[in-house]
Amino acid sequence: MITASAYTFKILRTDRKKPDDTPRFQTYRVKVIPGLTVLGVLNRIRDEIDGTLSFRSSCRSAVCGSCAMVINGRIDLACRTQAASFGTNTIILEPLPNMEIVKDLVVDMTPFWKMYETVKPWLIRKSTDPEKEIAQSEEERSRIDQFINCILCASCYGACPVIARDPEYLGPAALAKLERFVLDSRDERPDILLDDVNNERGVWGCDTVLKCIEACPKDVRPTDSIVGLRKALVGKKARRLFGIKK
Ligand code: FES
Repeated sequence: MITASAYTFKILRTDRKKPDDTPRFQTYRVKVIPGLTVLGVLNRIRDEIDGTLSFRSSCRSAVCGSCAMVINGRIDLACRTQAASFGTNTIILEPLPNMEIVKDLVVDMTPFWKMYETVKPWLIRKSTDPEKEIAQSEEERSRIDQFINCILCASCYGACPVIARDPEYLGPAALAKLERFVLDSRDERPDILLDDVNNERGVWGCDTVLKCIEACPKDVRPTDSIVGLRKALVGKKARRLFGIKK
């Protein structure tokens, strides 16, 4: 027989549309059966207890990236986190940091998308017939596998201490995406696009404290990408200094 346990959910609530609204924790008591996810609990609260609660979700399978939030002090996807996995019956839910709260657990992701667009996150080709397929070897493809797993959930952006103090910093997701195309054998990104991140707003702004790696639910490891971009820039400078061709 499956036994349900009583859990307390404390959810940070606020609404930017209401002037003078002060963020506060609202408490909900919910019966949780083993295997129920935090997203499952949120759906139940909204459907059965409080229809005014706001949060984002779509796929329920850790694919769309829309349900990232802070769960008991740790950034994760609500749809892949089981409520019973914490060793406590009290669970605190807060919205992702580093972005303005729209309502409750929903944040305004505009700054995240703005930075993402800055790195031109698409394949750039100059030399090939656009109708012609470009083959990749297994080894070439394996270099970019890790980055293809990114679901743009902004967990890394929310965890980044540099963004917390400098909103102009491009952030881990955008820089990891740039590295993805720099490593792609089909991409012919002009050097100028790499030069655009050769500054404190780009690769040199990272503190390399690995918070983004800790927060990423898909093991993308953005800090490693930033280090990879730094190496590429240093290599480019060395080649220029010593007149070495690529
Ligand atoms: S609902 Fe899609 S990632 Fe959680």
